[in-house]
Amino acid sequence: NKCVFPVAGYGTRFLPATKSMPKEMLPIVNKPLVQYGVEEAIEAGMTTCAMVTGRGKRSITDHFDISYELEHQISGTSKEIHLDSIRGVLDKAVFTMVRQREMKGLGHAILTGESLIGNEPFGVLLSDDLCLHDGVGVLSQMAELYRQFRCSIVAIQEVPQDETHKYGVIAGESLKEGIYRVDEMVEKPDPADAPSNLAIIGRYILTPDIFDILRETEPGANGEIQLTDALQTQARQGCVMAYKFKGKRFDCGSVPGFVEATNFVYENYYGKE
Ligand code: UTP
Repeated sequence: NKCVFPVAGYGTRFLPATKSMPKEMLPIVNKPLVQYGVEEAIEAGMTTCAMVTGRGKRSITDHFDISYELEHQISGTSKEIHLDSIRGVLDKAVFTMVRQREMKGLGHAILTGESLIGNEPFGVLLSDDLCLHDGVGVLSQMAELYRQFRCSIVAIQEVPQDETHKYGVIAGESLKEGIYRVDEMVEKPDPADAPSNLAIIGRYILTPDIFDILRETEPGANGEIQLTDALQTQARQGCVMAYKFKGKRFDCGSVPGFVEATNFVYENYYGKE
């Protein structure tokens, strides 16, 4: 029922836009990235959204709260319709927040979210990976798979071999079309060392034993506590599945991906809801 949103990162690839504004609040057309993510989580039944925030991220907290002044000002006018989507989100989910005081990596951000999750499986959604699918959303697809396998699941996609250094990369045994049991995971390998071109993207379902593993995980690539390293341990101890999701994914943490997503959403979704 719960999903962690690590939103504490600096978003350096988007400077200077992200100097005082969280990258998760950058809009794809007229909706901030993080709201797309929250809508995907709600669709998957994850109605408790646990935000791991940091300094300078208050606008995310404010976005998922009522703005009384705004409500009062436009109530009863033709402009009210523009608040429909966010009102829908606020009706369906609760938002809990914790601050990550030091940016020690994605693994550390998730460990910081432990107090909001407790001892149950949970989703993780990185909102700078925008995933769109006209049918069932990616987190829903993964939740369905979790019900079958009862172990951690990472979403993967094939990437060009020369881009493996941007991702966590897996190797594993193919169980059926698009589903792998993970044997190995490497964070940001050089193309020559990459065990495959199957890259992990920002959607996960994790079993809660990951917290103990993260506590023991030493800093890895970039001096950060890497979720991929903890997942590698989990894969060795038990089971981690990788799932080639159905849908389209945009890397909105990079300028080209952000522009591509903006054009795609404008052409295919804007004004059609
Ligand atoms: P990224 O490395 O893609 O995000 O982390 P970043 O650091 O914000 O962006 P760049 O690379 O400097 O442009 C993946 C996700 O993990 C979160 C980020 O907010 C992002 O959603 N994150 C990362 C944290 O919450 N805490 C961290 O310490 C690191």
